[in-house]
Amino acid sequence: MANTRALHRKPQASHVAIIMDGNGRWAQRRGLPRLAGHAKGVERLRDILKACPDLGVTHLTLYAFSTENWKRSETEVSGLMRLFRRYIRKESARLVQAGVRIRFIGNRHRLDKDLQGLMAWLEELTSPFTALNVTVAIDYGGRDEILRATRRAMTAIEAGDLRAEDLDDATLSGFMDTADLPEPDLVLRTSGEVRVSNFLLWQAAYAEYEFLDLCWPDFTAEVLAGCLDRYGTRERRFGAVAG
Ligand code: IPE
Ligand code: IPE
Ligand code: MG
Repeated sequence: MANTRALHRKPQASHVAIIMDGNGRWAQRRGLPRLAGHAKGVERLRDILKACPDLGVTHLTLYAFSTENWKRSETEVSGLMRLFRRYIRKESARLVQAGVRIRFIGNRHRLDKDLQGLMAWLEELTSPFTALNVTVAIDYGGRDEILRATRRAMTAIEAGDLRAEDLDDATLSGFMDTADLPEPDLVLRTSGEVRVSNFLLWQAAYAEYEFLDLCWPDFTAEVLAGCLDRYGTRERRFGAVAG
């Protein structure tokens, strides 16, 4: 009986990763400055995080700022950094109450010291929690992460702690920023763009993707539920034959 039930259970995406794109366009279409779109985008997170445990999502990875986003105007970059700082200060109590664990991936050292301090503080504060694991990618690029992991592996080889011939998939994964995290099942991108823009290049090798036409500030828990439903109808093969 249990087996029959298992056969009919739809596949569940427990790790969802999101490229939160389209804040600028959302604002521009309303005659607002781009930063108003970013502020609205940050606001969306509260509902989404709240919905995740009920939707069976245990891990949520959010692309907040890429290694390429430094190319934007000083006004936009500093505005985004201000929003990140404000989010951490304003939401920390709510995150603790909801049992959400927050981790950050990316470069870190190029961010201002204030923000780095807040990030470390929030990671420490929420480290005991397990209701939902949220990973925020800030100053993150997949290529940059792979390069940093490669350097770490080479340092271990030079130190005699690792033999080059023992460097395999699992060992290199262990040198990534995401070492303690599962790989994403489903990667979503809002805004209508159909590209990955340097997000989780290593980890999403076999993820399912869905590209949505709406802008990130219009993304809701209902939209997420729809994506998870459609994920349930997909067949992941990992290179094997269907069946
Ligand atoms: C995504 O929205 C947020 C960040 C990249 C920080 P955008 O700012 O890229 O919005 P569009 O793509 O210009 O509409
Ligand atoms: C990707 O969006 C980065 C984030 C959502 C943080 P971008 O807007 O920076 O990507 P491109 O420039 O359209 O590829
Ligand atoms: Mg964009």
